[in-house]
Amino acid sequence: MKNILVTGGAGFIGSNFIRYVLAERPGVQVVNLDALTYAGSRGSLSGLPEDRHALVHGDIRDRQLVERLLSERRIDTIVHFAAESHVDRSIAGPEAFIETNVVGTLRLLEAARAAWLGRGDALEGKRFHHISTDEVFGSLGPGDAAFHEGTPYSPNSPYAASKAGSDHLVGAYVHTYGLPATITNCSNNYGPRQFPEKLIPLMILNALTGKPLPVYGDGAQVRDWLYVIDSCEAILRVIERGRPGESYNVGGGNQPTNLEIVQQICAYLDQRFPESPYRPYSKLLRFVPDRPGHDRRYAVDFRKIERELGWRPRFSLDEGLRETIEWYLANPEWLSAIGRRDDYHGWIEQNYTKRGADK
Ligand code: NAD
Ligand code: DAU
Repeated sequence: MKNILVTGGAGFIGSNFIRYVLAERPGVQVVNLDALTYAGSRGSLSGLPEDRHALVHGDIRDRQLVERLLSERRIDTIVHFAAESHVDRSIAGPEAFIETNVVGTLRLLEAARAAWLGRGDALEGKRFHHISTDEVFGSLGPGDAAFHEGTPYSPNSPYAASKAGSDHLVGAYVHTYGLPATITNCSNNYGPRQFPEKLIPLMILNALTGKPLPVYGDGAQVRDWLYVIDSCEAILRVIERGRPGESYNVGGGNQPTNLEIVQQICAYLDQRFPESPYRPYSKLLRFVPDRPGHDRRYAVDFRKIERELGWRPRFSLDEGLRETIEWYLANPEWLSAIGRRDDYHGWIEQNYTKRGADK
């Protein structure tokens, strides 16, 4: 692996992955193809070495652009993160999800087919790695076994359906054309640089600024929380050592209810800011109407990647949440970079960071 094309590298997991891979693999160069939608930001790329990382502002559906990048930059590895990723947005408007997640993945696969499968030895050392989600497996009942790689697909939201479609396309390119592809189906990531529409950053930033903490329905839904650094490590391991044609489930081994996780964030802030007027932060909690078709429970069985590749998560939920909260406190300028200056940045900088919150 020398020249990687990362798609969606200005988003949450992609930007963390680029930092991770540049630190772990000194010989690697990254081309980062990102459309810079609301979820992608140049601010997430600050400080990256210019001689090893290049942002190309473009769309994965632009097949000519992708083919040109693959050949001109001599790409041997594609790591495909680019997607519309938020379930609530997919419920409000599914079309963009089909466009980016399904059509976009198809165009990338077609570009890889043209560049890598058209010539004799072009497959040597190539890898297409697709980032997918545990949501393709549907929702678990209280006593059901965790999702494993053979669990039948049963996506419920438009987002999950679009990701399932993209997974099937990748599988079809492996089966039909012999594309050397792998897939990771990971659970809910959290950590630095996550857009504050997802549960954990939304709750952290709302709590810090004294806004309501909206818990959907009864708050008893369960997710399997995976710290983003653990997630990046799993992805790199599958790219380098995973078997082509295989998928690997990746989970964090933490399964609190949503309510418990919000209370855990509040408890950390209570002890971190004993003088805060919002203490106890849990008084900001509000139960709000449920998400339509809300999946009740996810849990991931990650024994395959553990057995075959020796990966398991290192961060406990306590450690991961602490790292995440401290990162948002220490980097309020990132909130301006993503367009959240007025509601979050100024407030956090004045009331926490400038008072030494990032000691
Ligand atoms: P994100 O929403 O933070 O970032 C997505 C990135 O893709 C953004 O930078 C955006 O600008 C870019 N993008 C969107 N449409 C594009 C297009 N047409 N062309 C080029 N770039 C485009 O997403 P994330 O949370 O980092 O998720 C990354 C991947 O991981 C997605 O495929 C998602 O389905 C998957 N995933 C995410 C999680 C999670 O908890 N965040 C869990 C499992 C799987
Ligand atoms: O499971 C992996 C998936 O996790 C990824 O594929 C998706 O890209 C990612 O967005 C995430 O989907 P979820 O719907 O699980 O994540 P979200 O952060 O939106 O919500 C987590 C849980 O918290 C879910 O049960 C809904 C609930 N929730 C969410 C928000 C934003 C609330 O109760 N209140 C909220 O304000």
